[in-house]
Amino acid sequence: MHIAMIGAGYVGLVSATCFADFGHDVVCVDKDPNRLNALRNGKIPIYEPGLEDLVKSNADASRLRFGDDVGAATRDADIVFLAVGTPSRHGDGYADLTYVYEAAREIAPHLSGFTVVVTKSTVPVGTGDEVERIIADTNPAAECAVVSNPEFLREGSAIEDFRKPDRIIVGTDDDRAKSIMGQVYGALCAGNAPILFVGRRTAELTKYASNAFLAMKITFINEMADLCERVGADVLSVARGMGMDERIGDRFLQAGPGYGGSCFPKDSTALTNMAQDSDSPLRLVETTVAINDQRRRAMARKVIRACGGRVRGRRIGILGLTFKPDTDDMREAPSIPIIRTLLDAGAVIRAYDPAVIAATHHTLREIEFCDDPYAVAEDAIALTVITDWDEFRSLDLERLCRQMDPASTVLVDLRNMFNPEQATEAGFAYEAVGRGNLGWDRTAVKHAAE
Ligand code: NAD
Ligand code: UGA
Repeated sequence: MHIAMIGAGYVGLVSATCFADFGHDVVCVDKDPNRLNALRNGKIPIYEPGLEDLVKSNADASRLRFGDDVGAATRDADIVFLAVGTPSRHGDGYADLTYVYEAAREIAPHLSGFTVVVTKSTVPVGTGDEVERIIADTNPAAECAVVSNPEFLREGSAIEDFRKPDRIIVGTDDDRAKSIMGQVYGALCAGNAPILFVGRRTAELTKYASNAFLAMKITFINEMADLCERVGADVLSVARGMGMDERIGDRFLQAGPGYGGSCFPKDSTALTNMAQDSDSPLRLVETTVAINDQRRRAMARKVIRACGGRVRGRRIGILGLTFKPDTDDMREAPSIPIIRTLLDAGAVIRAYDPAVIAATHHTLREIEFCDDPYAVAEDAIALTVITDWDEFRSLDLERLCRQMDPASTVLVDLRNMFNPEQATEAGFAYEAVGRGNLGWDRTAVKHAAE
């Protein structure tokens, strides 16, 4: 099949590359000349494990090409995927559909023969109707079906997620479109990936419902972690015990500093706005958004408390800045509000992240970047783990602790990465998330037990 992929971001680039790897002929179009230049020179503009090799092998086999000519890519295509961004609109939290509608206007004049136009971007219910209207207005002769096919991949494991999806959701009532979508995903369907055909609006909502549910699940365990600290229970064991119930499942039950990233925050807010506008508010999701917003600052206060309440002029080291490991994406990273709160309290911040080497956000301009975790620890009164990069697991904790200000060797592990006994033996005053039996606040534990 001939595929045009509009947008070479996380979703567009990964999907284009994987479709090419299935044997399809794919042209990936982007507006950003820097991104295109990099791609044409074999450089991957995003950090995604395994992607560079896969792009190279498919580009070498001439199945994957990059360009800026929407017209040429669209004219030859059986399917055009729209994989452009749908960021949060400034001020009101609605999904900004400018890029989707612009892309629809750009492809419309070039559609030739029956073409399936697929919205892969995450879009509010009814966006497909509008895309259809734009195409019909711009090119009344166009013969096409507008389909919703939301993407569920995660950054950091995007290729694996794309190749082994839990499900493929296809929203269309058009039989020709169903058949073409079945063919484009043929390799996955042959490997038993379930494909679920639903209405277009249902597909659009299924994507938001999935992200909101996962955000709620994380927020649930985060609140449970707070309770664990109060009553002297261990959230890791609570999560393990809950997860053994197949109805609950053990994934997305890791307590931490709050969810971040380019999607959960913006999609949850877009969904609650959509629900409000439909007179059917989603109060659970609204509360999830509010709790998660507060949590990031609460994590900074936890660090300050662990330092005895005084951080002004003192050095605090941060391990990990990205919203999760194996990505360089800083969008809505919990590290930003945490660091902002620590800076406002007067702390001096040094940080290390394997994928972020310079300021990508104005808050980060006020911190010092280090080349390795041990340099971050130098003369610090506290170290805070914000992102659970695998390389932190093999840190020499004793060496790390020796770098610190001997008067205060606090390790606040916001991802529960380290073994508490090993951290304590290495010399740290170790603080985790939701591991009440290790907590500093013994009085609260006693009080609750009385
Ligand atoms: P991104 O910002 O990384 O990439 C979007 C790309 O589209 C950019 O390179 C931009 O230059 C390009 N673009 C915008 N308008 C264009 C146009 N008219 N023509 C050509 N190129 C254009 O975005 P992303 O993270 O890949 O997300 C894309 C969509 O997929 C969003 O709706 C997002 O919610 C959804 N999504 C993202 C993920 C993820 O892990 N990032 C996962 C699932 C779904
Ligand atoms: C998420 C979804 O998992 C994907 O299915 C979806 O396609 C994507 O959003 C999207 O729509 O863009 P992603 O944002 O890449 O993927 O990352 P996740 O692994 O879901 O993590 C999101 C945030 O939740 C991170 O900050 C992570 O640290 C946090 N998290 C995740 C936890 O705090 N605890 C967990 O148990 C899991």
